[in-house]
Amino acid sequence: METNTVGKEEGTDRAFRDAMVDKLRDWGSARTGPVEAAMRAVPRHAFVPSATLEQAYGPGSVVTHRDENKRAISSASAPGVVAAMLEQLDVQPGLRVLEIGAGTGYNAALVAELAGSEGQVTTVDIGADIVAGARRGLAAAGYDRVRVVHGDGEAGHPEGAPYERIIVTAGAWDVSPAWREQLAPGGRLVVPLRMRGVTRSVALELDGTVWRSVSIVECGFMPMRGPSAVEETNLELGADSGVWLRVDDGQPIDADALGTALTSAPVLAWSGVVVPWTPMTHLDFWLAGAAPICRVLVSDRAREAGLVDPIYSWGSMGCYIDGSFAYLVRRPAPGDAGQEMVELGACAYGPDGEWLAGEVADRVRAWGAARVRDELEGLRIEVHPEGSADNPAAMITADKRHSRVFVTTTGG
Ligand SMILES: C[S@@+](CC[C@H](N)C(=O)[O-])C[C@H]1O[C@@H](n2cnc3c(N)ncnc32)[C@H](O)[C@@H]1O
Repeated sequence: METNTVGKEEGTDRAFRDAMVDKLRDWGSARTGPVEAAMRAVPRHAFVPSATLEQAYGPGSVVTHRDENKRAISSASAPGVVAAMLEQLDVQPGLRVLEIGAGTGYNAALVAELAGSEGQVTTVDIGADIVAGARRGLAAAGYDRVRVVHGDGEAGHPEGAPYERIIVTAGAWDVSPAWREQLAPGGRLVVPLRMRGVTRSVALELDGTVWRSVSIVECGFMPMRGPSAVEETNLELGADSGVWLRVDDGQPIDADALGTALTSAPVLAWSGVVVPWTPMTHLDFWLAGAAPICRVLVSDRAREAGLVDPIYSWGSMGCYIDGSFAYLVRRPAPGDAGQEMVELGACAYGPDGEWLAGEVADRVRAWGAARVRDELEGLRIEVHPEGSADNPAAMITADKRHSRVFVTTTGG
């Protein structure tokens, strides 16, 4: 059922769109004139016809397709992420741009707006029905000059290559060799890259055979699908506990030993690091210095039972080793009026719980010190060809099918 139609609520959608863009500017997601102008120009509601104007112009993503298990497989991404990635992409008029993940077509329309009438925009999606929906949205909003292709974006779209810009709008586990082959010299790739289960939108440029980051933005994305997709491992800790460890990159994990971890007494270690209660920038990467990192996913049932009390609604980042695991916790801390402050710490279970909780608290302290010295700005992500030499300075080395990803920082 369609609840909004382009032009139907003339003026009303304009007010919604302007309010959305004003917020994106205040948050710093839309920083430059061209991105701001494109987002004011493109009617987002035309791409999500089943959504109300409030939903279409709200801060969240709008899910449009789910699989047989009700898992979201396509959406219009949250406008803040869309704006931040367009800033990373830096589209100039006249450029040829390839998007992987057409979804609703909304982002492709924004790219078309930025590339102008001299530019060329191609967008690829793996879902045939999704491609049809993107074409409808683009036509309704007046952007039918965007080419929408049905296919696996892992292969790019060689027929339109080379591209000065490639943007991937689904979570990628690796950087496809096809994207490098199809990128024009001096071009830029923006991709939400998954490293140890942590996703960052990374703007990469080629330096010989090495991709080097020029900008890194925090984000979350539904994973790329298709034959080359790599699933994360989800391990429930014991039967029906409602607590899972999610591990990426094929990291070894001892299911038997961890299965009994929750039967031991929890150990707490507070870090003394007091921060405003806002998202913890790049702390997840810092934890990798303690042990293999994982996501600790917690059901409401386990949380209500007091078994595990993580920091976010979905759970916390954590670490594991043999039969023990630790996850981040927080407690209220004094602060200036109006600013909620929290102290961060670790809670661990298992035979090495005391040691692991201490290690995680140490890593939180290292992150806290880097934050104070502003070294989070020094975070770099490099994608080297498979088989490249180790980088001893890397805080994370993630081996992929085609590449080795190194995460480094000037601090830590
Ligand atoms: C978050 S949505 C993209 C949002 C989109 N750019 C928009 O503006 O609406 C992710 C999309 O990636 C697509 N996708 C997933 N795996 C893919 C693949 N291997 N090749 C091409 N598209 C893929 C999904 O079908 C989904 O439509």
